[in-house]
Amino acid sequence: MENVKPKSSRQLHGRLKLGLHGKLAVPGDKSISHRGIMFGAISEGTTVLHHFLLAADCLSTLKAFQNLGVPITRDGQTVTVQGVGLHGLKKPNQALDMGNSGTTTRLIMGLLAGQSFQTKLIGDASLSKRPMKRVSEPLAEMGANIEVTDGHLPATITGSKLHAVDYHLKVASAQVKSALILAALQADGDSVLVEKQPTRNHTEKMLRAFGADIRTDPDDVTITVRPEPHLQGIDLNVPGDMSSAAFFMTAASMVPNSRIKLLNVGMNDTRTGLYEILKRMGGKVTVSNEQNAGEPTADLTIESADLKPITIGADEIPAVIDELPLVALLAAKANGVSRITGAGELRVKETDRIAAIVEEFQKLGIAIEELEDGFVIDGRKPWHVVDPHLDSHGDHRIGMVMAVAALLVDQPLTLAAADSINISYPEFFDDLDALIQR
Ligand code: S3P
Repeated sequence: MENVKPKSSRQLHGRLKLGLHGKLAVPGDKSISHRGIMFGAISEGTTVLHHFLLAADCLSTLKAFQNLGVPITRDGQTVTVQGVGLHGLKKPNQALDMGNSGTTTRLIMGLLAGQSFQTKLIGDASLSKRPMKRVSEPLAEMGANIEVTDGHLPATITGSKLHAVDYHLKVASAQVKSALILAALQADGDSVLVEKQPTRNHTEKMLRAFGADIRTDPDDVTITVRPEPHLQGIDLNVPGDMSSAAFFMTAASMVPNSRIKLLNVGMNDTRTGLYEILKRMGGKVTVSNEQNAGEPTADLTIESADLKPITIGADEIPAVIDELPLVALLAAKANGVSRITGAGELRVKETDRIAAIVEEFQKLGIAIEELEDGFVIDGRKPWHVVDPHLDSHGDHRIGMVMAVAALLVDQPLTLAAADSINISYPEFFDDLDALIQR
């Protein structure tokens, strides 16, 4: 049928003359919400997660653990997990549906590899294209028995006795590292994991808070995990997600006449790449109300700024991995040529984010060149709309970055598959509307 828009197509808000204004508390951190459920489940006693992220990805984790026999209840944004201990999970009576969530899939593989039953994991079309050998192969070195389908989901995990390992990670991935840590908790001795580069360290920090013996060397890349910890449930306030705050940090920096304040944003230094890059580009960000209850948090005030171009290489990528589409957008209005390289991992996210960004930015006439592992962007070239029909490619972060880009465009734009934002930020459009002065 011609001219029938996909159901979730959405008209985007166009150019904003009066800027973005006001205060906003962004939803809870996705990485921490997932881990709160998982680690609460394998602890003794009760874990209470406040400000839990009620988005599709974290609900995939919540459901999976309910299906593994863990009593979990929810009251608004507060989730209560009755832990069953490291060996108390039960064989589910159906395949576990991972939905769109790579984090759920990869971490659960490490955890279920050492249990005493068999589980099947399935996922949606996007997740079923993402690489799983990066987890199943190192786990196999520990004695795990995981069958993947051509390197992808569906996967069958047959619980086995796991051995300690001394393993150098082949990819800079917190998901792979976390899977190995969860397997190492069930191994027959101390395991040593060496990362290529430091990646987000929520697993190590949080498991320590639950009582695990996990040591990180001062080099930040060598992690020693002692098995069979006595994990005890905790009360946890999930900080605001830096990766969600990043959309508004970018929007307020780029849209003239803006000044916004984002409250209680997670400032773990393995996640603050966008904040550091924005400052280097000449962004105006002020930090206040710094707190540290396990994870550091702060309020961030962001004002519009004239932006300078930037060069980013592999070393900086892990701390900004999910925000690179936003770095590309900032670069598209900077007064020079920016180069982002060493970011090949973007090709195996919810969609190929390098190809998707290039395709969508070109619809706005942005001067962007595709590299195998990144982009070159000339922000001096004026934008001009070539095609007003933008597409999220079914990827939440691509959808939201294009909605931010639209705030700089006069012409009406639509976004296909806009509902993909539900994966990490269901209230995104409402929160954006609240900051828009009409
Ligand atoms: C995540 C790690 C990152 C990130 C993802 C969440 C996590 O993936 O892109 O959104 O919670 O561990 P990789 O570790 O595969 O880079």
